[in-house]
Amino acid sequence: DTPPVTAVAHPNIALVKYWGKRDEDLVLPLADSLSLTLDVFPTTTSVRLCPAAARDTVVVDGQPATGEMLRRITGFLDLVRALARRREPARVDTRNTVPVGAGLASSAAGFAALALAAAGAYEVTLDPTALSRLARRGSGSAARSVFGGFVQWYAGPPGADDADLASYAEPLNDARLDPAMIAVLLRTGPKPVSSREAMRRTVATSPLFPGWLAATRTDITAMRTALAEGDLAAAGAIAERNALGMHATMETATPPVNYRTQGSRHVLEHVRRMRDRGEQTWSTMDAGPNVKVLCPAADAQRIAAELGEITGCPTVVARPGPGARMTTGM
Ligand code: DP6
Repeated sequence: DTPPVTAVAHPNIALVKYWGKRDEDLVLPLADSLSLTLDVFPTTTSVRLCPAAARDTVVVDGQPATGEMLRRITGFLDLVRALARRREPARVDTRNTVPVGAGLASSAAGFAALALAAAGAYEVTLDPTALSRLARRGSGSAARSVFGGFVQWYAGPPGADDADLASYAEPLNDARLDPAMIAVLLRTGPKPVSSREAMRRTVATSPLFPGWLAATRTDITAMRTALAEGDLAAAGAIAERNALGMHATMETATPPVNYRTQGSRHVLEHVRRMRDRGEQTWSTMDAGPNVKVLCPAADAQRIAAELGEITGCPTVVARPGPGARMTTGM
């Protein structure tokens, strides 16, 4: 076997969400999205080639992967092998530090790290744009975790022949905000419905989806301005409304998808109440019950302590984090 190539990547939280694909196989989204990569919960993945093996081996947090997870990772390795024009099976070892399925975008960090490690192991040279495009094929949000800080993922022009090439993420070098993001860890455990299925169902059946999608396209432009102007209040307001809208679309799908629990609602309300008394706090949620709170870095510890107290749940204060990178060893 070849020596392992190891990479680490961090989750990102979208401030303008990706929800809905126009091409499921190529993972092409219906609109641009914009996120903040965090400095917590890294995923570390190593890939080595096993020329003598009959097939790929995938180990996730020390357990052999099976079913859908194995199929998705093997399918991703096939893409890398096609790029490299090679056929050797691989062994993938991945370690998450975030609970899988908790709505903290573990697939984003996972496929960003896997893209970098697998490209290294199969000796394909990819520039950051090509790496983002590759990571996107594993999980859409992974295109963004290739980069640190604020990142925009371009949908690319619909219907174009080069749509696959035109859909990648890029770091926003003109962003003038340096906030904190507090994760309130309400409950961990597998999600009721995968985000992939929930997204599909929402696009196909929610009467609110077209309205949310149109608003999202406007939100991207307004968010870019807010970030460039260093306007946290504007960025927070856009992010909170965009996320609430996304959840409204899935809750009005047939059958409905509910990631918000009573615990989530309690935190969402409390964040609003804190804001009413002058605190700078805005919420966002993804495909899980946890609530993430955007706030000024200087206030984060105090706000996290209060959220921990009212929920009785652990909180984690995150700051802007780095893009995917190679490391040595696991
Ligand atoms: C709610 O990237 O996990 O976190 O492309 O089907 O793998 P697939 O979906 P995924 O979806 C993330 C959805 C979200 C919003 C976001 O991160 O923008």
